Amino acid sequence: MTIRSVLTILDPKTTVRFEMSTAAHLFDVSGLACVITGGASGIGLACAEALAENGAKVTLMDINANSLDGIVSSLTRRGLDVRGELVDVSDRASVATAFQNTVNHYGRLDVVFANAGIDAGPGFLGRDGQRVFEGTLENLDLRNWERVISINLNGVLHCLQESAKHMKPQGSGKIVVTTSIASLRSVAWVGTPYLPAKAGASHLMRQAALELAKYNIQVNAIAPGAFATNIADGHVRDPEVRRLLEAGNPQHRVGDPAEIKGIALLLASRASSFITGSEIVIDGGALLGQAD
Ligand SMILES: NC(=O)c1ccc[n+]([C@@H]2O[C@H](COP(=O)([O-])OP(=O)(O)OC[C@H]3O[C@@H](n4cnc5c(N)ncnc54)[C@H](O)[C@@H]3O)[C@@H](O)[C@H]2O)c1
Repeated sequence: MTIRSVLTILDPKTTVRFEMSTAAHLFDVSGLACVITGGASGIGLACAEALAENGAKVTLMDINANSLDGIVSSLTRRGLDVRGELVDVSDRASVATAFQNTVNHYGRLDVVFANAGIDAGPGFLGRDGQRVFEGTLENLDLRNWERVISINLNGVLHCLQESAKHMKPQGSGKIVVTTSIASLRSVAWVGTPYLPAKAGASHLMRQAALELAKYNIQVNAIAPGAFATNIADGHVRDPEVRRLLEAGNPQHRVGDPAEIKGIALLLASRASSFITGSEIVIDGGALLGQAD
């Protein structure tokens, strides 16, 4: 008996039948025109690699020109089809220009990862269990609040707006927002502005999924737990921080950015054809609570 089965995908306009359930077919992203914001580091870079290593055409967008140049050069040397666009996601005009350049280059836009984000400084509680003066509600720096909201929430909105502009006329598209498990729970040691920014991005993702479903555009989110990246000056590499994070995680470790690659392929490919408005948690069980 063959492992092939008939899978029927209901397209809003037509009914498409395809007779393949091989992993290679379901997760095929070859030739797709993709954008990843915050693509020059960490989780965004891992998503970019996952797509490009599987034949997608990937534009990495980032605010850090040096990192972007270096990453695009090294991926290009590996034979991957990538290009870079300098962008500040908090600036709608900057996002609009970068998306337009990308569409001009590829002629279309299939997949967008709205991933760029920053940390928000200390929470109200230090890792030592002591209250942190500048992290308490009455002492929050409003400029920092606005900066975090403008990148982590407004930045997602700008990417959704520019994605919708280009995807609606073509009648297809997939958008993936990087939120956080901090969008689903409170965390005392995370800077307060980060939580509403990520919770807002999460709910914005659901509203966009509802609005854009009619146009055959799917919108989902990845909610990571602690991953070893460059965020917050790479604080996860600090041995004491890492030890505490590992102790609080049921799998007793932090995530490696490469572990995002499977979800990236799922949400960018036809394997996720009936998934929209979902936030997929990838946290080694951290949200479940303390195990031992
Ligand atoms: N690492 C974690 O533990 C973790 C956990 C949950 C969620 N996240 C989220 O994952 C996403 C990626 O973070 P990361 O951990 O890979 O961090 P990172 O610092 O390694 O990478 C973030 C990238 O975004 C870029 N960036 C920052 N501000 C930008 C802006 N205004 N416009 C364009 N690019 C900008 C940076 O230059 C950097 O290259 C963020 O949204 C972050 O909030 C990370």
